[in-house]
Parts: sequence; structure tokens; C-alpha cells
Amino acid sequence: MEHLQINEKRLWGRLDELAQIGAMPGTQGNSRLALTNEDGQARDLVVSWMRELGMEVTIDGIGNIVGLWKGPTTSPSLLPVMTGSHIDTVRSGGRFDGNLGVLAGLEVIQTIAEQGLSTEHPIAVGVFTGEEGARFAPDMIGSLVYVGGLDLDTALNTIGFDGERLGDELEGIGYSGTAPCPGIAPKAFVELHIEQGPVLETDGIDIGAVENVQGISWTELTIEGQSNHAGTTPMDMRRDAGYVASKISTFVREIATHIGGAQVGTVGKIDLHPNLVNVVASKATMTVDLRNTSGEILQEAENNLEEFCKEIANEENVVITSKSLARFEPVEFNEDLVDVVARISNKLGFSTQRITSGAGHDAQMLARVCPSAMIFVPSKDGLSHNPAEYTSLEELTAGANVLLHTLLEVAGGCHE
Ligand code: GLV
Ligand code: MN
Ligand code: MN
Repeated sequence: MEHLQINEKRLWGRLDELAQIGAMPGTQGNSRLALTNEDGQARDLVVSWMRELGMEVTIDGIGNIVGLWKGPTTSPSLLPVMTGSHIDTVRSGGRFDGNLGVLAGLEVIQTIAEQGLSTEHPIAVGVFTGEEGARFAPDMIGSLVYVGGLDLDTALNTIGFDGERLGDELEGIGYSGTAPCPGIAPKAFVELHIEQGPVLETDGIDIGAVENVQGISWTELTIEGQSNHAGTTPMDMRRDAGYVASKISTFVREIATHIGGAQVGTVGKIDLHPNLVNVVASKATMTVDLRNTSGEILQEAENNLEEFCKEIANEENVVITSKSLARFEPVEFNEDLVDVVARISNKLGFSTQRITSGAGHDAQMLARVCPSAMIFVPSKDGLSHNPAEYTSLEELTAGANVLLHTLLEVAGGCHE
């Protein structure tokens, strides 16, 4: 059984076929924002693969797809062991983020099936809606609803950055399903994902056994000043929303550097109004992404930001309003399951290291309802959320084989 391996060509082939949907011309990357037509087409393709593999496909009210594989001899009453991830991308993303976790899940099932093996527990592959949060915040909204962390109606009424309502867009692509939310809590959840950071590559390690995920705080700030003539308005008479946005942006960088350690801070989006060369901006809308492995220090960074906004609003005579878009505490994965991942990885001959996830993942939501863990494979140059995101076939295959043997073990062994 130890020698059982996934079919790497087939996994790579599926990754490549999926990446043709929403392909970014001239790159290897993908633009497949949640619930766009491209997301719909990608879902259709994955569902068709699930059906070919004999999986029972259900879609829930937030559009999460779950493919359940019962195998020939499994008792259907046992809870499934679940794997999976997401197939939406950021607007200018890579082909591996999320997609690997879903397609490796299918590959594991096909490998087990074609060997004529079965597991005690069924195996399920989840494709969770809107993990990226790049269109509808918060990120991981599908898995959050799946575990009962957000009620379905609130989620469906979410308005995206483009002004569209989540529920309407979900219906538009035909993925508003009838399976109940929250969904069934699986026996365990294991997600394979690219690291999206530089640690494994820098340390020359094949596999990361992910033990925790840092806390995430997303805030949208709206700054209201007054538009006026760029040539005639004296500097001390301006109520310049653009200037204030840039000051906040600089502050976010400074506060992250000042706190140090795991603290990171990003202003990834600023929209100015009216956004013209010779007009002082009357309005700015911006996002702030703060993350830390410590919930307390994250809170401290949030407090610092709030304090700074009050001060600058006063000094510059603008009004700043703040709205929380996402707020998740740091998550610890199940120690026993992390141990299983690390042990199996070592046994398969891969160099293995415990690692912290800097990115958010569906597994951190599933961790609320069942033992959960993740497997990371290296990202070239630590690049992700970038069309140049890359992990070699050999590295992906290592991760998928660790997933295969982890699922086999957790799902209760297999019998020939
Ligand atoms: C999701 O990809 C996130 O960590 O922002
Ligand atoms: Mn991801
Ligand atoms: Mn991502």
C-alpha cells in the first residue's frame, strides 16, 4: 500500500484543463473571480469529472459543491473524510491556489478506485464558494457558511466590490443548490494547498505539515473630504481624501514594521473619486488587511489603526468611516492530524517541516467542526496571487501522495 501513488500526468492534465477557463493571455495565470461566468464554467467541468468518477454531487444554498465517493464496500452511514479547497481565483491569480486541493482530491479518489480499493469511511471532495474574498468579503465565505459560522441569508445578501449581490450572481451561474447549510461535519478535513510564501523553498523542504493559520482582519475605510480645483485651492484649505488615503497606507506599513514579528499589513485597494488629474479627491475607499499569528497583537494593530484614523480625520478635516469586511482569529489545527500528515510525509521519504499558514484557507473554517489539517507544497520564489505562481510537477505530486496516504489512513485503511 505504501507504494501506491497518484497519477501525476492526470493531475497535471486536469490542472491544465481547468486553467484554460479564465486563462490570462500571455501568462500561466487565471482570472476567475467568484460566481463569474468563468467560475460557473470551471464548476461545470469539475462537477463533470466528479460524476465520471461515480461521485454523488450535491450543491448547497451558498453554492458549495460536495462530491461524495462511497467506494464499493463502504458503509454509507459513516461520516465522510473530507478534502478539497476552492476554484475561484483573485482577479490576477495563479493556476494552483485552491485548484490543486480540489483536483488532488479527485486524483486520490481515482487512484483508490482504479486499484479496486475502498475505505471504511466515504471520502468527500468539497469545492467551497468564494474562498478568495476578492469579489465578496469575507474570504472563505462558502466554508464559513458550511460550518454554520455565518447564516445563509446574510451571506446571500452580501454585496460585492463590484456592487453585485452574491445570491443573484450565484443564481446567475446556476449554482444555488438545495443541500442544507450548515453541511454535515465530516470525520476529518485535510486540505492540500501551495504554500504561497517563501518558507519551504528557502529551507529546501518538500512538505509543510501546517499546524496553524494566522488571524485575519479586513477593514474597508471610506474617507470623505471635498473636491476642489487642484490649481486654485491653497494647501491649507484642502480636505483631500486622496492625501489621507496615502497617509493611512503609509501608516499601515509603518505599524506592521514597528510591531514586527509575524505582523503584516497591506493596503491592496484604493478607489479615488472623482479620480481626475486636476481635482482634489472628495472621496477615497480603501481596504486594510492586517494579519498576525497572535490574536492579541492583531487586536493591538487594529486599535492603532483606529486611533490613527481618528487623529488624521481631525487634522485634515475629513470624515472617516470604517466597516469590518472579515475578522478571523488565529486557528490551531488538530495536533493528532498534523502528526499524521508529518509522519506519512516522512515515511514517504519527503523532508517535512511544521509550518504556519500566512494565507486564509477553507480548512481553517472546517477546523471549527472537525479535526482539520493542511499539507503545503513549495511556491517558486514565494509568489502567489500572481499569474506567475508556480509549483513543479514533482512538488505537486509529493503533496498529492501525502494527501492520498493521509486520507487512506484517516478514512479507516483500505482493503483489497
Ligand atoms: C485568501 O487567499 C487570503 O488569505 O487572502
Ligand atoms: Mn487558496
Ligand atoms: Mn488565494
